[in-house]
Amino acid sequence: MAITSNSNKIGEARTELDRLNSETHTADQLMESIALLLNQQMLKYNWVGFYMLEPGANPPMLVLGHFQGPMTPHTRIPLNQGICGAAASSGKTVIVDDVMKDARYLACSLETKSEIVVPIFVHGTVVGELDIDSHFPSAFGVADRELVEYCAHLVGKRMENE
Ligand code: SME
Repeated sequence: MAITSNSNKIGEARTELDRLNSETHTADQLMESIALLLNQQMLKYNWVGFYMLEPGANPPMLVLGHFQGPMTPHTRIPLNQGICGAAASSGKTVIVDDVMKDARYLACSLETKSEIVVPIFVHGTVVGELDIDSHFPSAFGVADRELVEYCAHLVGKRMENE
């Protein structure tokens, strides 16, 4: 049996994303379909979920939205906690190749080895993020980063138009 390469999977996911973007009617539907697509299509994306900033919360709070994978204990994350808090507060993509070596890491599953978190912007302001955990160390390379950032971009643009 042939093993499909990661780059092929990424190419297929990009094509599918553009289809989802044109077929879904709301940002909420788009986020739900992106979580499903990435979890099903990308073999090392073992947990995929959105955290969105709670409107009006003081202090700011990330709240779990659509996700695929096992339930996480972290349904609400303040901005000063976790890899998730770091990405949302800095407005920058965070990639952690070995979560056990990062003191910020909040454990979701004992199997998680690496993680990527990409902020979502609406008119230049962070409104949430896309978080992906992998059971494999260093699972997120340059092409994965581009793919996940593209997803976050599509969601932000859709929210701008709602
Ligand atoms: N690991 C994240 C918490 C969320 S779970 O991975 C789903 C963090 O360190 O912020």
